[in-house]
Amino acid sequence: MIRRSFLKNTMLGIPAMSGALPSCTNNKKPQKPIIISTWDFGKAANSEGWKTLSANGHALDAIEKGARITEADQSNKTVGYGGYPDRDGKVTLDACIMDEKGNCGSVMCLEHIKHPISVARMVMEKTPHVILVGDGALQFALENGFQKENLLTPDSEAAWKEWLKKANYAPVMNIENKTYQSPDPGFFPGSIDNHDTIGMLALDSQGRLSGGCTTSGMAFKMHGRVGDSPVIGAGLFVDGEVGAATSTGVGEEVIRCVGSHLVVEYMRQGNSPREACKKVVERIAKRDPEKAKNIQIGFLALDNKGNYGAYALQKGFSFAVKSADEEIVIPGESYFK
Ligand code: GLY
Repeated sequence: MIRRSFLKNTMLGIPAMSGALPSCTNNKKPQKPIIISTWDFGKAANSEGWKTLSANGHALDAIEKGARITEADQSNKTVGYGGYPDRDGKVTLDACIMDEKGNCGSVMCLEHIKHPISVARMVMEKTPHVILVGDGALQFALENGFQKENLLTPDSEAAWKEWLKKANYAPVMNIENKTYQSPDPGFFPGSIDNHDTIGMLALDSQGRLSGGCTTSGMAFKMHGRVGDSPVIGAGLFVDGEVGAATSTGVGEEVIRCVGSHLVVEYMRQGNSPREACKKVVERIAKRDPEKAKNIQIGFLALDNKGNYGAYALQKGFSFAVKSADEEIVIPGESYFK
């Protein structure tokens, strides 16, 4: 099912399931264990992660297993296998993972490996480092048993070749709102339905928080471009004393404000997850109001009690929640209505 019809159906389905369309993207009571993910495709990732959480497993395992579902889904053009390539036709992947104690690992611009989230975890657990990039990350992955694969699917190759006909470099992403006009409508051939990163946050039955983030990044980006997703503090941040946050959207703008770290710090000051996400979105909108009109950025947060919330710049953001009480996709609130 394509994202638009899925979201429409989901929104229609929520009143039947819960009695009312959520008026805001906060939960009413904390839930533990719980797993939440960006976008509607997060539902499948949550389901996989839930198998671990519901068996009293570790949040970090739930995150890795869930993210691997999205990475392996070739119909998803912005994560893992089948993700759109860069402007040179190379699929380069970014991912990171973090636990509540500040342990973290990241890979950037990794080619040929289907599951960058697992390589990121291995960087965290088997090296004294946090980040490996490019050829070094590939070498590390191959040395640790990962298989070299072609990640460019026929669909994604066709889209890239179509893009090459104009090759206008005007990256825009994540705009679900049908009224939105891209500066270059040809940038995404036939579609502006480009969803971006999966960011996942989980709180397990023992109160351990973890998060992960994985993406192929901006479609047809410059070779070597890295967004926010694998940058600890930008695309993901976890602090067991407070909570966790992750982001989706135009990574450059998230890096500029170290967005996910900022969300966690706003929670530390007593803001709810939703309020914390909203404050960061408002800061981004205030810094450059004209730019903000034309990009999408969304934040998702979970505190260490099991309260969640989200906020985005534009309409069209959604996130998926799985706990013992609920399994839903929630339309995100936005700054621009
Ligand atoms: N948020 C994903 C990226 O900018 O690459």
